[in-house]
Amino acid sequence: MSDTRAKKRFRSQEWFDNPNNPGMTALYLERYQNQSFTQGELQAEKPIIGIANTGSDLAPCNKIHVFLMDRIKAGIRDGGGIPMEFPVHPIQETGKRPTAALDRNLAYLSLVEVLHGYPIDGVVLTTGCDKTTPAQLMGAATVDIPAIALNGGPMLDGWYKGKRAGSGTTIWEGRRLMARGEIGYGEFMDLACASSPSLGHCNTMGTASTMNAMAEALGMTLPGSSAIPAPFRERMAMAYETGKRCVQMVLDDLKPSNILTREAFENAIVVNAAIGGSTNAPPHLQAIARHAGVELDVTDWEKIGFDVPLMVNMQPAGEYLGESFYRAGGVPAVMGELRKAGRLHEGVMTASGQRLGDVLASWESLDRDVITTYDAPLRDKAGFKVLSGNLFDSALMKTSVISADFRKRFLSKPGEEGVFEARAIVFEGPEDYHDRINDPDLAIDENCILFIRNVGCVGYPGSAEVVNMQPPDALVKAGINHLPTVGDGRQSGTSESPSILNASPEAVVGGGLAYLQTGDRVRLDLNASTLNALVDEAEWEARKAAWEAPEIVNQTPWQEIYRRHVGQLADGGCLELATAYQRIARDLPRD
Ligand code: FES
Ligand code: MG
Repeated sequence: MSDTRAKKRFRSQEWFDNPNNPGMTALYLERYQNQSFTQGELQAEKPIIGIANTGSDLAPCNKIHVFLMDRIKAGIRDGGGIPMEFPVHPIQETGKRPTAALDRNLAYLSLVEVLHGYPIDGVVLTTGCDKTTPAQLMGAATVDIPAIALNGGPMLDGWYKGKRAGSGTTIWEGRRLMARGEIGYGEFMDLACASSPSLGHCNTMGTASTMNAMAEALGMTLPGSSAIPAPFRERMAMAYETGKRCVQMVLDDLKPSNILTREAFENAIVVNAAIGGSTNAPPHLQAIARHAGVELDVTDWEKIGFDVPLMVNMQPAGEYLGESFYRAGGVPAVMGELRKAGRLHEGVMTASGQRLGDVLASWESLDRDVITTYDAPLRDKAGFKVLSGNLFDSALMKTSVISADFRKRFLSKPGEEGVFEARAIVFEGPEDYHDRINDPDLAIDENCILFIRNVGCVGYPGSAEVVNMQPPDALVKAGINHLPTVGDGRQSGTSESPSILNASPEAVVGGGLAYLQTGDRVRLDLNASTLNALVDEAEWEARKAAWEAPEIVNQTPWQEIYRRHVGQLADGGCLELATAYQRIARDLPRD
């Protein structure tokens, strides 16, 4: 590359200042300067910083980013860069049918094309709602240009009749209150809206707060960034600092591949357990790791994370919401406590340019009711169990939400603690569940486990958040809020249901769940991390031989493309072929 004038030649200069190809340079230059950028600045040897804007009217969880843009751009300008905002395909968890999960890989794909094909030297990823965070980290990992994440922050705390009303958890509680006849449709809607009092993403430790904590734990944000509530002035200031920092990352050539190492992922697994994070974190982190070329296995979640205690008292595993978490110090406070306990790799690099140990040196919990120390936690051993057996190769169980009542009811048979043998009730999807859950012929009681299948990546498609099935109304009226549930789909990170989920391989591709029948005996053994159908082998093999895959109906072209190429949740639910493309910014696209 000829470089006679610049101290550092940026990737974007191949577009805007390339004397080797004056024709193309003219085309790029004339069109970009017509929107207010001058020829001088486009050729000024300043890096161009893309801002991936995930906010829009269709994406209310991320809408705050529309208002943060000015501050991000000011930070980029003051840092010596040129900001260029662009839209990201919306992924609204509570808006997109059949499920926002289907769109994570679509947003990923389009971000890869944008970052690779446009004159961008670094990028600010605006994250927030569940899948918006992994989609962009996956994209940044694939392309490997300097990238930093900025989330929009959680909503303010919701309140209803003097009680905290948390995102999602309020919905699950409202469903139970309706089943018991304690509230009607109108009051359910009031309760739900009270849980959503401002711009921002879910204020519980659901998937959004979890994944933004994961981005921070991985080192992909500025310290203290993820927990700031959306409307706070500190959020605006963080937007400015993040934009400014991104410019320096380009000057220093600090890329995702310098940050997203195996050790960074191990840190994230530890943090996820400590915060009582979502069961959606494993598939999303698996996906980010695979696109970054880092070896991570679903069993690592139990190996590395299970013995970590629960240290954050936040719904659904605890009591508080986002404002309290922020005031107690947020993610760096949790990590500061974990660091003191020797649970983190301190030498990893972060987007701040500092090693993690230096970042955390001055951080600790500011409110031990909300963030505990490592030695006096809310509960011990609060990470995920990774189960296996003849029904699946792997499925997750979030132990931090196993309540004392649930444990006593289902897992405390004298002499067999942690074991539950029960009758299986099998549903073919959420529609079948809603049609039949109150059917008296099923005789569902406390000696049952509810199963749901055909709701994984290929089956649904996209993998639906439906495994937290509510028991029949009659049981809820009798005070039984949860039965053990199992499925090849996912559940909302805001759910307090101790489900066994993300079962892989899923039923529609011939996973063991496909052969289970209502009435079969099943045995859950949490000590051995197993779940098995107690069906004799000849019978099981006969069912397998007779099995026919359910008919798959695609409603859009993307659904068909997705189903053809998607892998299983245990492997991140990635587009398998995409994982072969790594660090692609090393080669420029053709002119
Ligand atoms: Fe968007 Fe929870 S639904 S953050
Ligand atoms: Mg969700």
